[in-house]
Parts: sequence; C-alpha cells; structure tokens
Amino acid sequence: MFKGALFDLDGVIADTSVYHFQAWTKLSQDNFQRDLPAKLEEQTKGVSRADSLQRILDYLQIQVTPDKFQQLMKQKNEYYLKLLQTLTPKNILPGINQLLQTLSQSGVKLALASASLNAPIILDRLQLSDYFAAIANPAEVKQGKPAPDIFLAAADGIKVKPQDCIALEDSIAGIQAINQAQAFSVGIGDSQELAAADILFAQTKDLNIEQISNAYQQWQEGQS
Ligand code: BG6
Ligand code: MG
Repeated sequence: MFKGALFDLDGVIADTSVYHFQAWTKLSQDNFQRDLPAKLEEQTKGVSRADSLQRILDYLQIQVTPDKFQQLMKQKNEYYLKLLQTLTPKNILPGINQLLQTLSQSGVKLALASASLNAPIILDRLQLSDYFAAIANPAEVKQGKPAPDIFLAAADGIKVKPQDCIALEDSIAGIQAINQAQAFSVGIGDSQELAAADILFAQTKDLNIEQISNAYQQWQEGQS
C-alpha cells in the first residue's frame, strides 16, 4: 500500500478550475476585447498564474511591458477572488470528502501539491485543512508544473518517498509533473492527453481506492 497521497486542488478537490478560466476570460475581454477559446482552458490548467498569462498573451499575439504583465496578473486574481467569495464546503467535488477520510483513517499521509497561491485559503474555506499534514508552497519551488518540483516538495513535506506516493491530478501539466516525480499518477478527466496517467477516472465520484491500490501495487512491482 502507498504511504502518501499528494493532491492537486483546483479540479480535484474543488470545482474551482472553471473559476480560473472565467477570470482569465473576463481579463481578456476587459483589456483586449477578445474572447478565449475553450482549448486554452486545458492549456492553462495546473499551470502557474504567470505561465497561464503568458500562454494567453501568446494566443492573443499581444506583447506587454513587465509592469502591465504584473498588473494583469493582479487583476486576474482580483476577478478570481471575487468568484471565490461564495465558496463553501458545497464546492468540494463528489467523492472527495469520503476519499480524504478513508485515506487518513488508513494512515496514509496527505499533502497538497497545488500550483495555486490561493490554496491555503481555499482549503480553509472548504474546511479541509486538518486533513493535510503538509501544503507545498508554489512560491518556493523552482519550476511549476509540468516540472516535478511541487510534487517532490509535497512528498518531502510528509517525509514519504515519491515512489511511495500516489498523486491526483486533473491537468495534463500535472500528470507530466507526477510522472517526472516518479510517483503513481491518478488522472481525473476525459481528455485524451490524460492517458499518460498510470490510472484514469472520468470524474472524482468514480475514484476507487481498491482499484488505485491494485494498480499501484502492479506499478510498484513493475518498477523493481
Ligand atoms: C492551478 C490552476 O491549480 O493554480 C491554474 O489549475 C492556476 O489554472 C494555478 O493558474 C495558479 O493559481 P493562482 O490561484 O495562484 O492564480
Ligand atoms: Mg487542477
């Protein structure tokens, strides 16, 4: 059995990933009178605020000064925080409460590996902070997802080797990060590109500990 579980937040624990893209879309409309295509949502998932903004500006083919870049990041976060004002435990995705409870009752240590600087306040609002023995700080890691750094930091935070951890993600960048960290990747979603995950579930409500444990065991046997 695995000893640690590393969780992404947006789109895994809570339904907040849609708010991120709503905020980016409003930012683009207000500043550049342009809409964003749905495909950009997938490309900005799991990716830091600065990297997301850069991808959006590249798509729009717009160049901005460093000052304007900072101002756009600040404005996006203000829009995002406004959308979070109504956040309550009702925003926890289906099956997640049960999963967190079962894992911690089984003695699995839990850590958060989110790219979001807002993660600690969101966990508090969801009343889930007590489950987590460590919250990796994205401001302190060198490289964001798809680099493995945040997952390595999360595993380190609970003093469990990455190979002894499962990690849950809904983004392509996140699955790449987990695989590079050499933890067992649990993907959530139906995008083709999530197929790189070691095991994939369409939705959080489908997450099944027994299936994950069996697949993890096979994966570990294959590693040695
Ligand atoms: C990730 C989201 O969890 O956090 C990304 O999937 C987001 O969409 C990133 O850009 C950074 O979040 P924040 O809250 O620091 O802007
Ligand atoms: Mg996510």
